[in-house]
Amino acid sequence: MSSIAVIPGDGIGSEVIESARAVLDAVAAKHEIDLSYTEFDWSCQRYEREGAMMPDDGIETLSRFDAILLGAVGWPGVPDHVSLWGLLIPIRRAFRQYVNLRPIRVFDGVASPLRQADGVDFVVVRENVEGEYSEIGGRLNRGFPDEMAVQESVFTRAGISRIADFAFELARKRRGYVTSATKSNGIVHTLPFWDQIVAERAEQFPDVRFDSEHIDALAAKFVLQPQRFDVVVGSNLFGDILSDLAAAVAGSIGIAPSANLDPTKRYPSMFEPVHGSAPDIAGRGVANPAGAVWSAALMLEHLRHPQAAAEVLAAMESTLASPDTRTADLGGSASTADVTQALVTRVISAR
Ligand code: NAI
Ligand code: MG
Repeated sequence: MSSIAVIPGDGIGSEVIESARAVLDAVAAKHEIDLSYTEFDWSCQRYEREGAMMPDDGIETLSRFDAILLGAVGWPGVPDHVSLWGLLIPIRRAFRQYVNLRPIRVFDGVASPLRQADGVDFVVVRENVEGEYSEIGGRLNRGFPDEMAVQESVFTRAGISRIADFAFELARKRRGYVTSATKSNGIVHTLPFWDQIVAERAEQFPDVRFDSEHIDALAAKFVLQPQRFDVVVGSNLFGDILSDLAAAVAGSIGIAPSANLDPTKRYPSMFEPVHGSAPDIAGRGVANPAGAVWSAALMLEHLRHPQAAAEVLAAMESTLASPDTRTADLGGSASTADVTQALVTRVISAR
């Protein structure tokens, strides 16, 4: 049995999670997978009511689950750093979710803004707990003309080694090619260290092709030749930017999934669509559930149900390919419920 903590969050978060749950229920029943869910109302609404996104013992509560499925948090009136630092970042750090995994694919029926995007299929592996997003630093001389801010980056041998190993192992199961994002020509301490450790780890995977690209040139290649990539590994900041760029290349933000993984499985991993709470369309039942559904498929894979995960992904591919099961963000007119129904039907009939 796998126990799942469900945090629908704000706005369309609850709409897409409802859809993901329906698809999970269908595939779980079919494969006799025992999933139990516990729902938490942790959100900006809770913040406005009780002054915190989650209770004081929130992390302790979550630690008893096998996985966390999250919709999205954020709402107008609550500063974004509150929802981020009050929920998402504490979860990622407390549970040592050092991998942020962002698969990118251009599906049939989804228009990419690029003219040449057929066959794009790669994964961005972002370092998720150290690097540029550290709390080390501070502000000096506040309010004076010589006011200043310092922010330290933290790169450790252990941190770089484990993210590189994850990327190389993943490439082995795919097309065997890793690209490392760097900027060691401009950032002269941390990134040469990153390059050195990633190259050391590469030697342990002689069967995987490996190269290293400066982040600026790499960003250009994401647009000019996205088909050439298989697994792209980067630091926290580089991975953050590259994964949004890659999601844009793939067409709609409504499709992009993500996984925050503790590959050691000591702590629960968290699965969430890349998109936010979309206040502009919330409550209208028109959100694209694909990002949440694909995230649920990543969760099934992590919980060692690869066949069920593959069937969910295939159902998604098929709904995207068909014009009457596309939501408005993809130029269609299907509702979230229409797409969910179609996904469930396809999952049940797949063999
Ligand atoms: P957003 O992703 O919520 O929306 C951006 C645009 O994409 C909107 O026009 C929205 O309607 C559209 N969109 C997003 N997801 C969609 C879907 N599934 N189907 C159809 N259309 C979709 O980003 P935005 O507007 O910058 O942020 C809104 C709130 O969400 C903010 O409070 C922000 O902090 C929060 N947020 C939370 C994230 C998380 O929980 N991980 C990630 C990104 C933003
Ligand atoms: Mg981002």
